[in-house]
Amino acid sequence: MLLREPTLQLYDFTTIQLKVMSRILTGIQSSGRPHLGNILGAIKPAIELSKQPDNESFLFIADLHSLTTIKDGPTRREFTRAVASTWLAFGLDTEKNTFWRQSRVAEHTELAWHLSCFTPFPMLNNATSFKEKSDRASVVNAGLFVYPVLQAADILLYDAEIIPVGKDQRQHIEMTRDIASSFNHQYNEDIFVLPEAQIDDRLMTIPGIDGTKMSKSYNNYIDIFLPDNELWKVIKKIKSDSTPLEDPKNPDTDITFQLYSLLASDAQVAEMRALYEGGNFGYGMAKKALYELILAQFATERERFSYYMTENPDALEAELQAGEEKARAIAGRTIARVREKLGFS
Ligand code: TRP
Repeated sequence: MLLREPTLQLYDFTTIQLKVMSRILTGIQSSGRPHLGNILGAIKPAIELSKQPDNESFLFIADLHSLTTIKDGPTRREFTRAVASTWLAFGLDTEKNTFWRQSRVAEHTELAWHLSCFTPFPMLNNATSFKEKSDRASVVNAGLFVYPVLQAADILLYDAEIIPVGKDQRQHIEMTRDIASSFNHQYNEDIFVLPEAQIDDRLMTIPGIDGTKMSKSYNNYIDIFLPDNELWKVIKKIKSDSTPLEDPKNPDTDITFQLYSLLASDAQVAEMRALYEGGNFGYGMAKKALYELILAQFATERERFSYYMTENPDALEAELQAGEEKARAIAGRTIARVREKLGFS
């Protein structure tokens, strides 16, 4: 059964069938300014996916989820703005797709309550992510416990079909399917679409400046939006071995080279490899080349980021509010369906 209106009607003239775009949805944690690892590993691939003609992406900033850990208002506002500015800087098309802040569409919290009454307690109690988080946290709040229910609401509100996520989120999508099917089963009607997780194992891990996975929590990340001199200071800190300047160097074990290769063209990479192997080429020079490459590759994105983040915060706010209008229209239809079933209308 088709629960929603086709978003875009494309006629395939060979079969004369009505095709509906695939609805892709992802929530983005706003736990800091996105770094190079987030950009190459998640943001760019998601934007590429959203550009495919048969796809329509729903991307939102999961700022309500961030409340499980971050309590400071100004910090949250800052992180949310930085995440939004990054996605816009990297060219997310907000006409074709929908981009919003979860907290501004009240239906997320409303549906989360409904769904929590269809969620077996043991299921939440057995969630790996809860176990891990509660082991680490000094105070375990109930928000951490019901986190997967809010995530289920995020997904089910938009009749999303495909959820591209990391491996650690697989269980949350399974729980969403379970909650949705028990709801559907209860009313003997397809109220919710059952989503599928799409887990791309090929997605690369980006090394941080110490060679381990680039991550905010390891404090080994490269923030490409830093002013030039601060960016250079970070690049200079990339770990390297103590091979003397004159000696040939092994590019394949060097972090600077790995990062350079992720951004450079094949020709540039080949040239850099030859410099390493030729000797008389120091790590400082390689770092300078990486620094310059980042400035050149991300010149537009750096400009657009500071446009939204600093020079024109109103433009950012306007983009998000327009997205919230679109999101609310869809979420409103779903919640109406649910309220009707539950006797709340
Ligand atoms: N829990 C997800 C994460 O940690 C973020 C998220 C919230 C999400 N709601 C979502 C992801 C809905 C996919 C779909 O990354």
